[in-house]
Order: sequence, then structure tokens, then C-alpha cells
Amino acid sequence: EEDPRIEGIKSTIHIIRDFPKPGGDFLDVNTLLLNPKAFKDTIDLLVEQYKGKHISVVAGVEARGFIFGAPVALGIGAKFVALRKPNKLPGKVMRTEYSLEYGNDCLETQVGVIQAGELVVIVDDVLATGGTLCAAISLLERNGAQVVECACVFGVRQLKGRQRLNGLGKPSFVLVEI
Ligand code: PRP
Repeated sequence: EEDPRIEGIKSTIHIIRDFPKPGGDFLDVNTLLLNPKAFKDTIDLLVEQYKGKHISVVAGVEARGFIFGAPVALGIGAKFVALRKPNKLPGKVMRTEYSLEYGNDCLETQVGVIQAGELVVIVDDVLATGGTLCAAISLLERNGAQVVECACVFGVRQLKGRQRLNGLGKPSFVLVEI
């Protein structure tokens, strides 16, 4: 049985065809952020999923994972760790490269921000192919983290990102699948 808040969240999402490239569909979460109730419900649902589970780190994927990840970290009393695009972080960093629909990208995190064995949840806005989250998992695990779950506001069922994460033994929590 679906939580009644999910329908409201779903109704805020806009799918833009042929953006940023012809043939692609873009899920615009900015319209969710314009609706304070839907935004609050989104954060509340994620906090309800993780509070009391000894999660000490919420890792957010640049850029839109920061918007959802930081309030979830506050809500469950965990620290927030930013997984950043390359060359943004000072000091010693660890990097993981991955391929995207359009070219390559990479994520970095600062060495020493996570202690061995800490329980981590990764938050992002959209789960598409799962390539980004697979890279995020590998980066965090190389830093000694125990990645418990990946959480996304939206999932694109057709692109099978959840199956890809399952293949790594990682459960995913997706509020709205389209
Ligand atoms: C989008 C989205 C996810 C990722 C999902 O980010 O915010 O991070 O793609 O796709 P995947 O499951 O196929 O990896 P994008 O690469 O557009 O970066 P941005 O948030 O910095 O714009």
C-alpha cells in the first residue's frame, strides 16, 4: 500500500523530452522544489526510512543529491559527505571514474572524512542507469564505508538502475518510479 504522500510528490515532476539531447528524457526535480509540501514530504519519507538505523553518514551526489541529502542528514542526526565532481575538493582526495549516457565523469571525496565501518546511505535525485550510484558505492567502500542503501526521489524503471544496484548486493529505496 502506497504512502499517500507519494502521489503528491509524483504530481510535481515534469518530464522534458529531448533534453539535454534529442531522444533523451530529462526529469526536472526543480518543480518538486517549488512545492514546499512535496519537498517536505520527500525529506520526511527519507528520514522515516533511515532514522534509528545507526546510519552515521549521508553521502550526497553532486549536484542535486546535495539538495535532498543534506536535510536527510540533519533529520537523522548523521554527518553529510559531499561526493563531488572532479577538482572541487582541497586536500587528499579519492576519485572514481564512470561512464555516462553522454561521455565520462568522475566523483571525488576527501580522504579521512569517513571512518572504517561507518554505515552510509547515498542520496541522489534520480536513479537512471545506476552508473553514478555504482561509482559512488565503489568510492565510499574504498574509503572503508559500509554502504547500506541508495535512496533516490525518482527512478526510471526502463533503465534498470535498481537491478544494477541489486547485482552489487545493494538495495535501493526509490520514492517514485516512472
Ligand atoms: C543525473 C542525476 C544522477 C544521475 C543519474 O546527474 O542527478 O546523479 O544523472 O543517472 P545514472 O543513474 O544513469 O548514472 P547528472 O549527471 O546530470 O549531473 P548533475 O546533477 O551535476 O547535473
